[in-house]
Amino acid sequence: MAKSLKENELKKVSYNLLLANRRRIGKYQYTVPSPETYPYQWLWDSCFHSIVLVHFNVEDAKKELLSLVSSQFKDGLIPHMIYWERTNAINIHWGRHGTSSITQPPMIAYAVWQIYKKDNGREFLQKIYPNLYSYYNYLITERDPRQHHLSGIINPDESGEDNSPRFDIPLGLLPQQTLEESTKRRVALVNKHIACDFNVKDCMRNFFWVKDVPFNSILIENLQAMENIAGVLNLHQDVTFFNLQQNLMKKAMRDLMFEDGIFWSTYGENYKKIKVKTWAIFAPLFAKIYSKSEAKKLIKNQLLNSREFATNYPVPTVSIDEQSYDPTGFWRGPVWIAINWFIFKGLLNYGFYEIAEKIKQSSIDLVKKNGFREQFNPETGEGLGAYNFTWGTLVADMIEEVNN
Ligand code: GLC
Repeated sequence: MAKSLKENELKKVSYNLLLANRRRIGKYQYTVPSPETYPYQWLWDSCFHSIVLVHFNVEDAKKELLSLVSSQFKDGLIPHMIYWERTNAINIHWGRHGTSSITQPPMIAYAVWQIYKKDNGREFLQKIYPNLYSYYNYLITERDPRQHHLSGIINPDESGEDNSPRFDIPLGLLPQQTLEESTKRRVALVNKHIACDFNVKDCMRNFFWVKDVPFNSILIENLQAMENIAGVLNLHQDVTFFNLQQNLMKKAMRDLMFEDGIFWSTYGENYKKIKVKTWAIFAPLFAKIYSKSEAKKLIKNQLLNSREFATNYPVPTVSIDEQSYDPTGFWRGPVWIAINWFIFKGLLNYGFYEIAEKIKQSSIDLVKKNGFREQFNPETGEGLGAYNFTWGTLVADMIEEVNN
């Protein structure tokens, strides 16, 4: 891509990529994250697509999410993958036919709220609200059987960061493991899930039970979106319910995850902290969970520290002083634009505009230099993994945010 590309042109190529990756099946349409490598529909990817599409065609943003909820399970879970048309890509059996059996970071209410902010339309909110309600209700009941106010994940893939070193200890792996070893364990967990007859509460949580910082931070921010949506729909009891849940969860994160100024993911029944420094330590900024002074310290000591997260091309997904850090390893160091987007939004929440601008610029530079690649080496900027990968289009949302 030309390095001289102006912001408007970058927005245009972003939209063109979303159009090129669009697929239609009957009355449904959705966007594949990458035609060759990821030719299906994914949960949080579709939320990202919808957030970007809001700036170009709000009706398409709605359609993307309606396809996503079309395969929701009876218990409320929205699966992380819908195959629509099966190809040879990704030969993992994820437990069900037509979809996977696990979920992903619950970004859908946030995406719906961006749509409402654009067109102020109640009709779409009314249509999708029952799906949203049953999904979030599932996450705060089925995924929190002891009512401790944190939602558990049962497979690393539910975090969206399939091979992150945060999950090495709960999976029983060492910091220098291979993608094959990790995949084997993650697939074994899917088989346990099947053997449990998909019962998380009584069975599956005995095998892998992580309270993940990004998953819970994202959930909290989405419960805020649910509170807003319920408000527009005059559902007063739901407003109170979603407000209360957020507060309970924020408190639980403090009580069970916070130590030495940082929120750590935990595993097992007794909330053992997983003290591996990944971008996850910044995720609570997205839901305004750190206080301003805590955020200031975290940014100075970690984000802007050249021995941790301040690489040539920020933000590495794993701190460079971690044993597991690998600048080309899958979720073990490389920059992913959606992660930069979460951190960018988090920084704006606290008024750290200059640093947010730097992260936006670095994301733009990476995409201009190397195109829409899946990941980027945080030291050299080199593009890695899938091609024509849609997450880079989030730069269009970052550009809009700053222009507004
Ligand atoms: C990879 C990523 C996951 C994403 C999927 C499709 O599996 O780890 O987060 O949803 O690709 O883009």
